Amino acid sequence: MFLDEIAKRRTFGIISHPDAGKTTLTEKLLLFGGAIQEAGAVKSNKIRKGATSDFMEIERQRGISVATSVLAFLYKDKKINILDTPGHKDFAEDTFRTLTAVDSVIVVIDVAKGVEEQTEKLVEVCRMRKIPMIVFINKLDREGKDAFDLMDEVEQKLGLSVTPLSYPIGMGYEFQGIYNIWGKNVQLFDGDQKQRKAERISFDDLEDPALVEAIGEKAYTQLKEELELIDGVYPEFSQQDYLDGNLQPVFFGSALNNFGVQELLDCFIDIAPAPLKKETEERLIDPTEKDFSGFVFKIHANMDPNHRDRLAFVKIVSGTFERNKPYLHVRHNKKLKFSSPNAFFAEKKEIVDISYPGDIVGLHDTGNFKIGDALTGGEKINFKGIPSFSPEHFRYINNADPMKAKQLNKGIDQLMDEGVAQLFTLAFNNRKVIGTVGVLQFEVIQYRLEHEYGAKCSYENLNVHKACWVDAEDEKGEEFLEFKRVKQKFLATDKQGQLVFLADSAFSLQMTQQKYPSVKFHFSSEF
Ligand code: G4P
Repeated sequence: MFLDEIAKRRTFGIISHPDAGKTTLTEKLLLFGGAIQEAGAVKSNKIRKGATSDFMEIERQRGISVATSVLAFLYKDKKINILDTPGHKDFAEDTFRTLTAVDSVIVVIDVAKGVEEQTEKLVEVCRMRKIPMIVFINKLDREGKDAFDLMDEVEQKLGLSVTPLSYPIGMGYEFQGIYNIWGKNVQLFDGDQKQRKAERISFDDLEDPALVEAIGEKAYTQLKEELELIDGVYPEFSQQDYLDGNLQPVFFGSALNNFGVQELLDCFIDIAPAPLKKETEERLIDPTEKDFSGFVFKIHANMDPNHRDRLAFVKIVSGTFERNKPYLHVRHNKKLKFSSPNAFFAEKKEIVDISYPGDIVGLHDTGNFKIGDALTGGEKINFKGIPSFSPEHFRYINNADPMKAKQLNKGIDQLMDEGVAQLFTLAFNNRKVIGTVGVLQFEVIQYRLEHEYGAKCSYENLNVHKACWVDAEDEKGEEFLEFKRVKQKFLATDKQGQLVFLADSAFSLQMTQQKYPSVKFHFSSEF
């Protein structure tokens, strides 16, 4: 029973550059699960263009993204959990952290735009972690790039090794349907009605004159030629290679027209991994272990500013999570019980008694949790792989209301635990520096400090190019001590007390690296 529950779970994330069609695809997947009844039910969680400095937009965004943080549905005999990843680049850290909780990923690419910047960054993280990926090329109803050119681009720019499991018959105005290599059938598209034609032609009938008739001699000849080319050029699909992160199957379709999506989903549930083992500093955890373990990958502040409680999202790694049972909060070394853990279903959340590996539970939290925290049945383990990366923007944060210093410190502390931004304390004058991925977060922090904590802050510019975590093999050695002495003004500690070098330019970073070869400069907090 327990093992069956694990085997049936598929927990994944959809990543894309904004506007490639992630929201639309998510919605269509939910329709297949019968989790929602109509199109348009999944609100787009993206910040609309031009609204980048609108507080209300940020707040609206927060509200919607709680609802769509985890979307679960049943399809055939599988329980599918989609973890939402913000597409906006200012929230890239959020997405990186969510990727620590997925077992696989679907990458959505716009057929006309090809591989875009945000996709490159996100795929790089997945590739480094060997996360199994399926590529979905979207918007085939529009004119776009040639399918072979696109697959080349995916290989070149994303460093992937692909093999198509579906293939388009024409494109844009000429788009006639999808040849499903995996499912061995052809589904035709009715361009006028923008929907699938009822009949599906099975693979064995590829030679069927009805197909020639349906798509025309020219398209038929081209399809046959291209399929031969695919046979010759691309490797045969191997599930093991896909699971190992060495081969990425490609599907084509149009999310908006719900075309090619079921083909993707049917293959996904066949090949995508059930919950995987997870590394901790102490040992590898197997999902089938009886004892519960899980980790916090996301913290969401409550929408109601009068209740400062938050929702901590925990990915269950092993065992079962049960309501009202005491679990060990490893970092605090104390037991906590949860009377109303939330599970997510479609776009709703509800209280749940028991959850299994692969599932996400939302726990109400009054400030106990921070990103990366482990919760277990009793064992003291620390999960790996939730690093911080160097922020892109840095500013001094000052207290603008001296009467509210305590509130300000508490607010900053909690917002950092949520992972909104990173805090550095300069070594030589104790001043606090906030580092963020996008400029938007500065406004979010200011707004939230005021509305949730009653504190006011102001910012001051600071010229920092990059934050690097530093250490040395011999921390008592002459060179490291000299580095610390000479560069004192550029040194800070992060929230964990780790030493950080704030380089003011790429050039000075390079010079410093050359001058102190025994000092190690790391570009993420986990090394
Ligand atoms: P995102 O979450 O990745 O940012 O993208 P989203 O699904 O919101 O899609 C971005 C735009 O692309 C939307 O249009 C959506 O309707 C359109 N789209 C998605 N899939 C397809 C497709 O297969 N074919 C075509 N032609 N368009 C597609 P929009 O005008 O920006 O938004 P909306 O007003 O339609 O919501």
